[in-house]
Amino acid sequence: MSQYEVTLIPGDGIGLEVAPATQKVLEATGVSIHWDIVNAGMDEFKRSGNALPQEVLDSIKRTKVALKGPTNTPKDGSFSSINVLLRRIFKAAANVRPIHSFQIGHLIPEKKIDLVIFRENTEDSYVGEERLLYGGVDGQEIIGAESISRITVKACEYLFRAAFEYARRNGRKKVTAMHKGNILQMTHGKILLDAGAKVAKEYPDVNYEEVIADALFMKMILDANQFDVIATTNMFGDLLSDAAAGLVGGLGLAPGANIGKEFAIFEAVHGTAPDIAGQNKANPCALILSGALMLRHLGELEAAKKIERAVTDIVAAGRILTGDLARLTGVKPSSTTEMTDFICRLIRSY
Ligand code: NAI
Repeated sequence: MSQYEVTLIPGDGIGLEVAPATQKVLEATGVSIHWDIVNAGMDEFKRSGNALPQEVLDSIKRTKVALKGPTNTPKDGSFSSINVLLRRIFKAAANVRPIHSFQIGHLIPEKKIDLVIFRENTEDSYVGEERLLYGGVDGQEIIGAESISRITVKACEYLFRAAFEYARRNGRKKVTAMHKGNILQMTHGKILLDAGAKVAKEYPDVNYEEVIADALFMKMILDANQFDVIATTNMFGDLLSDAAAGLVGGLGLAPGANIGKEFAIFEAVHGTAPDIAGQNKANPCALILSGALMLRHLGELEAAKKIERAVTDIVAAGRILTGDLARLTGVKPSSTTEMTDFICRLIRSY
């Protein structure tokens, strides 16, 4: 059996709990992974003065695949978002976020939601170009601020090609471009939508539509199943995927992947959850499901399916659930480690 080398970045907060949990679960599948464990984020910044050490970059350059826990982004600007930096450095320009509904204990979803959001990962307001605006009597008073939202033809075409390619490979019927082209006539109306229309012509077997962002949010809440694959800009994709995660059980069940031509970084949608960090309360399933996406990327489909089945089964059984899900069904919450160990047992039993 081949052994894979994967970079593991535990990150901060609950990352220190859900990353080892995911390692355990991947190990239970029997897939052989050598983990190159390095760290980035706030803890690393406090330890070494560098939030993104060179050894992290060197490791990903070598392994080409990373599993990453969440990292804190300080509001005081002492360092920039590690996610934004990693996605940009490794040109992991498409952020893939599957939204899939689960039966949670006795709570059976009225309608099963099953869609995938593709979020452009490197541009838009995330280019981080902001400046304060000065005015007033002496010209020294801060009267506001402005932020650049830049998108390019290259990144938009990459986004749509990734979305259409995924749709074709996974038997999906439609790609929807989410935009605000009526107001943002250059960035969205021209660059984003021209890219969508151009790439759509290369995939005549997949339908294509354009939906304005505010209407799309409303439609998503009313009937998410009218969407199949949604492709959108960085900021809209961020907001939409968290909201969509809320429709299917919350952030504890929302995995993600950042995919580029050469490198791929897998991470949950959620952050470091400071309110529950260090208490063995975090739901490990979002990172575990991101680990399953990683196995799919590595071509280990059977192992990935076992993980997805085990998470589906444990959540549906409804007895061993971390607090975020237990709250929904009224059972006594289990710990991160209890849930992890049970998932491992299920995987070994299949
Ligand atoms: P958050 O996702 O960390 O937490 C939001 C809420 O969801 C909290 O109540 C938290 O307890 C809960 N939650 C999140 N993940 C959970 C899990 N696995 N199990 C159970 N409950 C869970 O978002 P927040 O509070 O806005 O951000 C906290 C920090 O995380 C910030 O520093 C932010 O920059 C960072 N962040 C990092 C991300 C990443 O590295 N990919 C993504 C989002 C935020």
